[in-house]
Amino acid sequence: MTKQILVVSASPRGAESASRMIAHKLDARLREDFPDAKYVYRDLAEDNLPHLDSRTLKAIASRDLKEAEENREAGRLSDKLTDELLASDLLVIATPMWNFGIPSLLKAWIDLVVRPGKTFRYVEAGVEGLAKGKKAVLIIASGGVFTGGPWKSWDYADPYLLQILKFIGIENVQTVRVEGLNVPLLAAAAIPNAERAISKLALSGPR
Ligand SMILES: Cc1cc2nc3c(=O)[nH]c(=O)nc-3n(C[C@H](O)[C@H](O)[C@H](O)COP(=O)(O)O)c2cc1C
Repeated sequence: MTKQILVVSASPRGAESASRMIAHKLDARLREDFPDAKYVYRDLAEDNLPHLDSRTLKAIASRDLKEAEENREAGRLSDKLTDELLASDLLVIATPMWNFGIPSLLKAWIDLVVRPGKTFRYVEAGVEGLAKGKKAVLIIASGGVFTGGPWKSWDYADPYLLQILKFIGIENVQTVRVEGLNVPLLAAAAIPNAERAISKLALSGPR
């Protein structure tokens, strides 16, 4: 059952943002499909999350329990964001592609929620993701085209997000591209194509 949906948006371009536009489209569909779910919106352009500093690192990643305890206060924001993610059944990440990867706004969120002992843990065989049983939808807006053609191998946004989500145990991930926004011949089709992709997403059923 989908009880909580977390929507993480990274573009600072407000109403002009293509990734946000498509996220709103998805939001409308989700609210029809899951009217009883709780919706949590994490707007990274407003939050301006901090980079990990020494005290936060000690709080969230130290193997020395005393040191972690002494710095607990510095880990509160990470605790909050991580708990928000863990409590959600569906994660939506809407982001621009910037310089062929993700904006640092989104990377800051990832650095705060990919946490040993919370969203992954070390096991004998390597690492086990702890954020299991969730679905995710990625909405990635870009000026160019990266699903095929000569720029495909330049895409460090989708492969990275898929990899990091898999690392914490989220393997059911669908990507919607809003691509070609800066390519004159393709720009007009970018939004309608993405809207069509939103209507085709598989959002119910087993994870
Ligand atoms: C700082 C910056 C870097 C960008 N880098 C890329 C890029 O590497 N590849 C690309 O195809 N488009 C790039 N773009 C274009 C954006 O991906 C495009 O404008 C997209 O619509 C942004 O998403 P948004 O509309 O949700 O803000 C860049 C735009 C900005 C502002």
